[in-house]
Amino acid sequence: MDASPPRLEIRNLTRRYDGRVVVEDVSLAVQPGQVTCLLGPSGCGKSTTLRMIAGVEMQDSGEIWVDGKLICDTVFRIPPERRHIGLMFQDFALFPHLRVGENVAFGLEGDKVEKGKRVETLLARVGMQSYVDAYPHELSGGEQQRVALARALAPRPRIMLMDEPFSGLDNRLRDGIRDETLEILREQDTAVLLVTHEPEEAMRMADEIALMRGGRIVQQGAPYNIYNAPMDRDAVSFFSDINVIRGDVKGSLVDTPFGQFLAPGVMEGHEVEIVIRPQHIKIDFDRDGRGPNSTPADGTPARGIVQRARFMGSESLMEFRMDHDGSILKATVPNVFLPKPGKPLWLMIRRDRCFVFPVKG
Ligand SMILES: Nc1ncnc2c1ncn2[C@@H]1O[C@H](COP(=O)(O)OP(=O)(O)OP(=O)(O)O)[C@@H](O)[C@H]1O
Ligand SMILES: [Mg+2]
Repeated sequence: MDASPPRLEIRNLTRRYDGRVVVEDVSLAVQPGQVTCLLGPSGCGKSTTLRMIAGVEMQDSGEIWVDGKLICDTVFRIPPERRHIGLMFQDFALFPHLRVGENVAFGLEGDKVEKGKRVETLLARVGMQSYVDAYPHELSGGEQQRVALARALAPRPRIMLMDEPFSGLDNRLRDGIRDETLEILREQDTAVLLVTHEPEEAMRMADEIALMRGGRIVQQGAPYNIYNAPMDRDAVSFFSDINVIRGDVKGSLVDTPFGQFLAPGVMEGHEVEIVIRPQHIKIDFDRDGRGPNSTPADGTPARGIVQRARFMGSESLMEFRMDHDGSILKATVPNVFLPKPGKPLWLMIRRDRCFVFPVKG
């Protein structure tokens, strides 16, 4: 087992504004060369958490540790400039009076030749090498952001805190810059804590995702686990569209128009929600008013009428009005499948891909 302490560890961080708790008891650890994503909706406390780690804001309680050394609690505090933490925040600012190359070189130590090489390498990797002598005001917003990234990466920080660092880039550029940045950070063995409210970005970048809600981390794990074993309905819907079917538990089972579902551990008589992503609904053709046979894996088919079908590029999205209760369900299939509105089709719910949660409250 690896006995070395995490590069970054925060323990029970809490922050209140005017008596309102905005970050509550947040703990996590990031190893060198690893990326942890704080993922959550607007206002859930992501940036506040990063600001405390950066040292530009003080926690009300909790501790911050780097490589096994305490750098901040409520009594002891190493100032921000001595934490050797790289920052790439939403409201990044380049020095307006310095050229691009000078901006990137700003925090670097060593001789001129060495610095020049490092600046050149980093600008090349973010695709800005030809702008080395330009001033920030001569660049577009996205170009400035790429320079800011190069500047943040240049001193090889041991920890990098990034708050939506790619938000100003267009999609095509973003994927490339994002991958390039990650590669540089991994090469440098930097521990990265990245804030985003975009699940795709978190899935693409993170070794671990910490799902935040209302100031707390509600679930933490590898992207695969968070996606496939979400803790509740909101955790499912954070990553994709969902369909919800309700029912009551009788003898550990829920009876629905799609057949029976297991509801282990839910009290008798309690209402549950069966949550299924559109891509996990199975679709089959109508055979003179009948659907396919029931199976243990897919349950009982229920009939719906196509309301609309849209081609989305890599998949097609359909909306159905269900015969049994008039509810609308969404389903997607890969590639092109565009049945006409009014067409009856049969829908099945994959038992290995649906989630059954007790209704709260
Ligand atoms: N200086 C402050 N004074 C009072 N309240 C604040 C202050 N800074 C943040 N808050 C509040 O704390 C909560 C968390 O803010 P924070 O900026 O951490 O959210 P966030 O998760 O980064 O959201 P977003 O995704 O929109 O950036 C918000 O409700 C915000 O209004
Ligand atoms: Mg924020």
